Amino acid sequence: MSEGAVSPVKPDLFASLDALRSDFARRFESAANEQTLREENAKILGKKGELTQILKQLGSVPGDQRKAIGERVNALRKEVEDAFSTRLGALARAKREADLHAAPFDLTLPAREVVPLGHAHPISKTREELVTIFRSMGFAVHDGPEIDLEENNFTKLGFPPDHPATDMQDSFWTTSGHVLRTHTSNVQIHAMMKQKPPMAFIAPGTCYRRDDDVTHSPMFHQIEGFLVDERVTLAHLRGVISEFAVRLYGPGTKVRFRASYFPFVEPGAEVDVACVFCKRPDGTHAGCNVCKHTGWLEILGCGMIDPVVFEHCGIDPERYTGFAFGMGIDRVAMLRYDIPDIRLLFENDPRFLAQF
Ligand code: FA5
Repeated sequence: MSEGAVSPVKPDLFASLDALRSDFARRFESAANEQTLREENAKILGKKGELTQILKQLGSVPGDQRKAIGERVNALRKEVEDAFSTRLGALARAKREADLHAAPFDLTLPAREVVPLGHAHPISKTREELVTIFRSMGFAVHDGPEIDLEENNFTKLGFPPDHPATDMQDSFWTTSGHVLRTHTSNVQIHAMMKQKPPMAFIAPGTCYRRDDDVTHSPMFHQIEGFLVDERVTLAHLRGVISEFAVRLYGPGTKVRFRASYFPFVEPGAEVDVACVFCKRPDGTHAGCNVCKHTGWLEILGCGMIDPVVFEHCGIDPERYTGFAFGMGIDRVAMLRYDIPDIRLLFENDPRFLAQF
């Protein structure tokens, strides 16, 4: 080739560029949906796309022509990109328009597939039932910490330092020296430290002990009851518990108090209700496995608040008296639904839970 002459550009490269320029707009226009449009775009600009192939051939174009043809390729790429986003926007708008004008969903149509509805867990149901009864009797509902200081769970409640319940065998301790509360009675202390009598509340919640058998779980639930005022007596405690038993188990339900010991009450008692499972119409009891043939079911511990506990919380024991009780919610649920093993309540087996 003589000096100064212009080297010829491969004619097929120009032809390919011209063919693509005259064609891409029509191809985008005829793409009826986003997916087809994206496929068409990939055929041009993708790794193996037509324009990319043309770009790859630039290496074989003589140097003096490369710049000019490179500019044409870049200009075409920009046109293709602009056309692609314009068409994409147009398709999106068209789809939105179509959706807006489509027939609305008929929300009243019956479902094609029947989806089984869930329901509350038997413990939640029982807790709600107990809370409703005590609320109807005028008790407020309190909450309390599940991880607490030893002094709130034990010391201020009058547990001596060497009490077996504080032992590593019975309680769960955190590495920072806090205890997972072993009962809801810690809420008594929190309430008395914050508020002065009169007060009447219940406190449902989760508790933890190193227990594990058919009637004891390491995680379980209690509901605490607490009432303090001037001149509160054991008769008030009896009245509240008897009325509670009637509201839970029905008219005529008998209760009995058995003397018992808890460090934070004096006197203390355990309460049994006459067995509701083997009661005969004449009021006598046939005896059954649930009540272990005694005719009685133990439902809670209770008592008159020990003056020492008042003193620990800055409340004058000469002026105020009160009572407290603590009931196992899981125990009430087991009796209510005839569940023989407490662990069934926490295994979350849908076949078991579906029964309630
Ligand atoms: C107490 O926890 C006392 N705080 C109750 C109390 C409160 C007495 C206020 C006096 C005044 P006790 O350890 O007995 O007492 O537990 C009460 C109930 O919690 C038991 O009757 C039982 O139903 C339930 N319970 C105790 N440990 C477990 C456990 N590991 N699993 C399931 N339920 C339990």
